[in-house]
Amino acid sequence: MVRQITTKLADWYRRSDQRLPWRGIRDPYAIWLSEVMLQQTRVSTVIGYWNRFIDKYPDAQSLAAAGLDEVLEMWAGLGYYSRGRNLHDAAKLIVDDHDGQFPRDPEQVRKLPGIGEYTTAAICSIAFGESLAVVDGNVERVLCRYLGIDGDPRRGDARRRVRQAANEALDRDHPGDHNQAMMDLGRYICKPRKPLCAECPFS
Ligand code: ADE
Repeated sequence: MVRQITTKLADWYRRSDQRLPWRGIRDPYAIWLSEVMLQQTRVSTVIGYWNRFIDKYPDAQSLAAAGLDEVLEMWAGLGYYSRGRNLHDAAKLIVDDHDGQFPRDPEQVRKLPGIGEYTTAAICSIAFGESLAVVDGNVERVLCRYLGIDGDPRRGDARRRVRQAANEALDRDHPGDHNQAMMDLGRYICKPRKPLCAECPFS
């Protein structure tokens, strides 16, 4: 049952073709920026902010060299300002501790401020092709519904089952596309309310 997810999801993702400015690129810095913005902000809002940030700060060096006040001004309207502060701190660490290169090792990525388990999996799978399954709220909902798991997916047995299923379903040849497809499916089809089951590739 879980294995079926892999191919059906890949077909659906190819057909759905969400055009987002950070899709189809491999620059870990640019992907990191998109993932941090997407943590608590909707996609349609993030697009404009991401474009402005990338224009003004095209790499970790330019972001690290900027003043915090300026970065937070650029962040204004996105909310959760600790994300902007962490972003700036992380850029400085990338310059100071990683020669300005975004780290490749997931353990090093996870140590950067503002990057948790889910963002590490997203960045490393998309930018570096690492076989790490993303489990965010969208993915939890998709897997709980598909597998009929009715406990709280953030705790105990339900959490363990969701994570195991996410790992088993992961397309190890295309982990970045797979993860983005799962998140898209949860956002646009397997919505919290009024899910579009007739359009679901798993129905
Ligand atoms: N939510 C957070 N990151 C995402 C991504 N890369 N694709 C789709 N949804 C996301």
